[in-house]
Amino acid sequence: MKRRNFIKGMGLAGLSATLPFSLVEVAWGMGSKPPEHEPFTFAYISDSHLTHIKGTQFTRNFDQGLRKAVMEVNLMDPKPDFVIYGGDLAQLGKREELDHGLELLSALRPPLKWVIGEHDFYLDMGEYWQDKISPLHYSFDHKGVHFVVLNSILTYEDWIAQWPTPMERMLNMARLDNPKGSPFMVGDEQLRWLAEDLAKYDANVPVVVLSHSPLYKIFKPWNFWTDDAEKVQKQLQRFHRVTVLHGHVHQVLYNQIGNITFYAVMATAWPWPYPVSYVQKPNRVPKLTVFMNRADPFHQRDGTGWDILDLDSGAVTNHYQLWLNENRTVAFDFKLKHPVDLKYQDPDKRIPPQFHY
Ligand SMILES: [Fe+2]
Ligand SMILES: [Fe+2]
Repeated sequence: MKRRNFIKGMGLAGLSATLPFSLVEVAWGMGSKPPEHEPFTFAYISDSHLTHIKGTQFTRNFDQGLRKAVMEVNLMDPKPDFVIYGGDLAQLGKREELDHGLELLSALRPPLKWVIGEHDFYLDMGEYWQDKISPLHYSFDHKGVHFVVLNSILTYEDWIAQWPTPMERMLNMARLDNPKGSPFMVGDEQLRWLAEDLAKYDANVPVVVLSHSPLYKIFKPWNFWTDDAEKVQKQLQRFHRVTVLHGHVHQVLYNQIGNITFYAVMATAWPWPYPVSYVQKPNRVPKLTVFMNRADPFHQRDGTGWDILDLDSGAVTNHYQLWLNENRTVAFDFKLKHPVDLKYQDPDKRIPPQFHY
């Protein structure tokens, strides 16, 4: 499949190797006879973690990641129909951070669709987000594709009630490896809504689900985890073409569970390590995933990156564009019925680690 040049103007062509967002192309076909549909693209920006210092000061590194993404989405050609923001716009859910994010994102030309992350939510339990930004879960149709946005970062009432202040609650949910944290979930109310929503659609309708946390279980101590993920998966299995795109893990990650293909998208802020490489505890990092190499701490943007996802014949081909590392293409293999890295899946062919002297 040919890479497209999404950047307008000759002088800007070089930027295409460093775009910190994910571009998703939807071009649904069914076997040799594609159905009537209009192909389209959308972009995906996620996990900017804008961090308020004081007054009008914010951590510059994270601002820069988001600014870069916004600028480059605006330069895309063809223009995306819309942009998904995948959650964790703020670091500690502060109004200053959310307002700052809204200001930076107001420069985007295409319309935005929003997914909430735990860093946006746990200071005021999503109040400001719902007031100023978006509902927490909703669905929409676009050119024959059904999109479902879920709030996958809810948690248990008794955990929420135990904190003396909203900021303590926020800080305890914000920490990656906090033994006092609590697992995410979608929750029964939203599951009921999802069942009603999906009931209106035939199994042949392509479905794209957008969540913040992965809708499967990887590593509980870090909340790479959604407690009731299996219940969501069960509702999605009857669809012939269903893809879940999520943020939160800040790394290359792909998986297949039954009929559902999962892709993580990159963060604009920083990369997380893989749980398997950091702790000697049981984890379920997908065996399919060929890891991206450890990020170079001397380069602020290493370990972040962008993806182009082509969704043709109902299957995703994901082009990972990684800074200071080899680009990767992960495509659905119809014989194996799961995605594979076209070049690096074979352990003998993997990318050697970076060396620094
Ligand atoms: Fe995040
Ligand atoms: Fe997150």
